Amino acid sequence: MSEIQFDGKTAVVTGAGGGLGKAYALLLASRGAKVVVNDLGGTFDGKGVDSTPAQKVVDQIKTTGGEAVANYENVSEWAGAQKIIQTAIDNYGQVDILINNAGILRDKSLLKMEIADYLKVIEVHLNGTFFCTKAAFAHMRGQNYGRIVSTASAAGVYGNFGQTNYGAAKMGIVGLMNCVCQEGARYGILANTIVPTAGTRLTATVMPPDVIDKIKPEYVAPMVAYLSSELCQVSGKIFSAGGGYYSRAAIIEGPGVFFDPEAKITPEMIAEQFEQISSVEGGREFGSAMEQTGHILSKMSV
Ligand code: NAI
Repeated sequence: MSEIQFDGKTAVVTGAGGGLGKAYALLLASRGAKVVVNDLGGTFDGKGVDSTPAQKVVDQIKTTGGEAVANYENVSEWAGAQKIIQTAIDNYGQVDILINNAGILRDKSLLKMEIADYLKVIEVHLNGTFFCTKAAFAHMRGQNYGRIVSTASAAGVYGNFGQTNYGAAKMGIVGLMNCVCQEGARYGILANTIVPTAGTRLTATVMPPDVIDKIKPEYVAPMVAYLSSELCQVSGKIFSAGGGYYSRAAIIEGPGVFFDPEAKITPEMIAEQFEQISSVEGGREFGSAMEQTGHILSKMSV
């Protein structure tokens, strides 16, 4: 197989001052991409700002002969997101790849969760992903090409204690990307979602140091680079990556049960058939909401 290269392509990586985003930026730059290294800086829980992390990554890329420019805007502000994308346009004339990666944590159990902490996490992850995607999409549509990789989490896909804000934001991103996938299809814009696992300052809050050292962000980066490449042709999919493990996660709908809608359907009928209704054995994925509705309608007319 020929090597995957990004010559002539411009990538925006948000939150690329450290952790996973830094690994993505370094890999893409090492393979020829011009990279906008965005990072607001600040603490893992979203306090303060610091231009040092983004600048350091840019310096590292330039030292090894790559091309990069730093940006310190906040993804969770619409004006900031527009400036992030404009940095790519001003410096390199285009934006081909957007990696929505910036993120923070403010974990608390539901009853202890401050409303401000709920909203802040939604703003950075979900609004930030929406804003950057919207700003980049305009340019990608104009050039009939784009690759968008956004970041969910097992906490959203599968749930985790103390992360209602984060889980909601991360699963919101899956829904957002499922719809961006539909809107981008006719313009060559592909949108996928990554569920990473890596030792970073975020996971250092919940994982022991020896585990943190073992599961390096560099193990996630090849998957993200593939999804960012011309070679990639899938869209609207969720991929897990971490510690050398790469897999696809999916939302499956079981074959279910069809009752005659003209007859009276009672809660007792649901109870009686609940095992079959709950089973996903022999289930399937739907490519869009319209496909799922079409499936229901086709069964009704039988
Ligand atoms: P990290 O803390 O090392 O990196 C996140 C970066 O985003 C930081 O450099 C931070 O300054 C930046 N950032 C935060 N808010 C920002 C804002 N408003 N605007 C611009 N930049 C901002 O953490 P890590 O682990 O590398 O996280 C990257 C992404 O992966 C996050 O979205 C996180 O939720 C997600 N994730 C990470 C997992 C892991 O195992 N490390 C697991 C699941 C998801």
